[in-house]
Amino acid sequence: MEVMIVSSSDEVAQVAADILRDMLLHKPACVLGLATGSTPIALYGELVHRYQQGEISLREVQTFNLDEYLGLQPKSRLSYRRFMSEHLFAHTDIEADNIHFPECAAEQDPRTVGPGYEWAISNAGGIDLQVLGIGANGHIGFNEPSSSLGSRTRVKALAPRTLQDNSKLLRDDETQPEMAITMGIGTIMDARRILLLATGEHKAAAVAGAVEGAISAMHPASVLQAHQRVRVIVDEAAASQLQLREYYQWVRRKNDSIASQHGGSADDDPWFHKTVEDLD
Ligand code: GLP
Repeated sequence: MEVMIVSSSDEVAQVAADILRDMLLHKPACVLGLATGSTPIALYGELVHRYQQGEISLREVQTFNLDEYLGLQPKSRLSYRRFMSEHLFAHTDIEADNIHFPECAAEQDPRTVGPGYEWAISNAGGIDLQVLGIGANGHIGFNEPSSSLGSRTRVKALAPRTLQDNSKLLRDDETQPEMAITMGIGTIMDARRILLLATGEHKAAAVAGAVEGAISAMHPASVLQAHQRVRVIVDEAAASQLQLREYYQWVRRKNDSIASQHGGSADDDPWFHKTVEDLD
């Protein structure tokens, strides 16, 4: 796990956008796993800006979002498809057919969505880079505490803490969805590279549990410690409960000095080197 502590939430977005840009340059037809929530909004804004500057293109990219609410009215303001369209997709050159959500059609049994989504991810070649936020209770996607660490895409009932956190975003005439379809923890762990983003003091305990706590289903993000290529990008506030804060910064300076001596482009960065799965 590489922990990158930066000074502000804006810098979290910049550093994450640099990594996504490098991914897009390294593999223009890459498969991205994307997250919703307030945390990645600034990242998506930055990607739109870079697209408008001609720095990146999403023309060949396929995307798979982590999750979608269940039981929403079509075109609901709360839907994650709409969120992604507003913050990213509608402002770029991504092809509509390349955008995927674990959505349930009107008459469909929601329990059949997960296997189809898993198939689609696998058919696309697997996720090259997964962007994650983290819930205050340590959830990733909607994998709430106690989710199996090997879980796959499925229906999940939301935890009380999540319902409470998300209800703050509701308007008076809106009802909080209580269920969602989410990629499983096993699905997320299959991604070749993972970026976990967190900003603000209200995420500090969740980040500390993810990075330095025991691996446990009670804190789903902690499983990322067992992944080969995770970068955790946090601002100072979200890093404030990390015990090894100074060590992570020292490690980063050391790694940067190697990069400056031996080449700092995406092709020189081990993060982008072929993984064993790429060789299949
Ligand atoms: C939701 C999403 C998660 C997200 C989390 C944190 O529950 N399903 O993917 O990481 O919220 O959201 P925020 O970034 O708004 O704190």
